Amino acid sequence: MTRPPGAIIGAMSPPRRHTRVLHISGPEDIAAAVSEAAAVLRAGGLVAFPTETVYGLGANALDDAAVASIFAAKERAADDPLIVHITGLAALGDVASACPPLALRLAAHFWPGPLTLVLPRSPRVAAAVSAGLETVAVRVPSHPLARAILEAAGLPIAAPSANRFTRASATTAAHVLEDLDGRIDLVIDGGPAEAGIESTVVAIDGPNRVVLLRAGAITREQLAAALGPGVEITAAGPREKRSPGMMAKHYAPRTRLVYIAGSADSARARLFAEAAGAIQRDQRVALLISAEDAAALAPGHGYTVETLGPEDDPQAIAHQLFAALRTIDHAGADVIFARSPAPSGLGAAIHDRLSRAATEAIVL
Ligand code: TXA
Ligand code: MG
Repeated sequence: MTRPPGAIIGAMSPPRRHTRVLHISGPEDIAAAVSEAAAVLRAGGLVAFPTETVYGLGANALDDAAVASIFAAKERAADDPLIVHITGLAALGDVASACPPLALRLAAHFWPGPLTLVLPRSPRVAAAVSAGLETVAVRVPSHPLARAILEAAGLPIAAPSANRFTRASATTAAHVLEDLDGRIDLVIDGGPAEAGIESTVVAIDGPNRVVLLRAGAITREQLAAALGPGVEITAAGPREKRSPGMMAKHYAPRTRLVYIAGSADSARARLFAEAAGAIQRDQRVALLISAEDAAALAPGHGYTVETLGPEDDPQAIAHQLFAALRTIDHAGADVIFARSPAPSGLGAAIHDRLSRAATEAIVL
């Protein structure tokens, strides 16, 4: 079946499923949850599970129907390919037909962990996983529950973030249910995802060039250190195959979000001025800001405030980011003003997510 680019499979809303939740409260819960998750996956079902980045919505990557149901549950555009999760390098041959030397170097350095490699695809992988591309995105998660589920299922598992298409990624089981209750079979609740931001996605272009398709939990600086001198890391240009996770509208709250980017002092001053102006126009205003911004607010300001964390702790900010976006979206505001720390290191991924969540951006 051919579809126009961007067509949504199952846009009418998918068939209703009963969604069960298994909570991991202690080590004694793990074995039963893992074997249940594996059984559902082997039967072609949909299981949301925690990874070290965000929650994934998993299905058997070798099963066309199971993969199609991921797209239906998320209402995901058919031209947005999925990441396949495997247990380790030894299983790479099941999903990829080749692994160039630079990819091998990166895998050896960062797997298990939040790095996704785009490689030539094996024909065994369900075609919908790759959304018509000749490549497949692969990663080896480090989260113990994710690893145990992959081992027990004995299958490569396609798993996008476990949220509705274009919404904030899910970092807790509650977020998964907010978006997907009644659309998937099982949620494994292993507590909040640690990194809070998705994996870094890279492609290899020849012997000396790595293309950064999506900024993520592994920073550009970490990639450069692992690759050493002589290897160029470039951002995806127009000649690269589009990585649809890089589309403009993504992670978007329902509330209008104005993102203000710039150096800390000028962006903070502009954010406070914009917020004061909106209050004067009788708007309900919410702020998504750093701990330092919150401390600088005048008493009795009248804003709803969601604090992301200290400016010098991008890990804390990344951990909170998607949860904070969801919370502030529920605050009943007319407008959200947001600011993020400097876009270096992990700050690059935070800046990327906020600029794509934004209805409009003010760049100073
Ligand atoms: O951390 C993560 O990567 C999480 C967890 C669950 O593993 N998964 C995740 O999946 O973020 P998703 O579907 O939300 O994002 C997948 C990203 C998108 O940006 C997509 O365009 C890109 O990977 N991607 C997948 N396959 C690709 C391919 N063959 N070529 C280029 N980009 C690809
Ligand atoms: Mg996603």
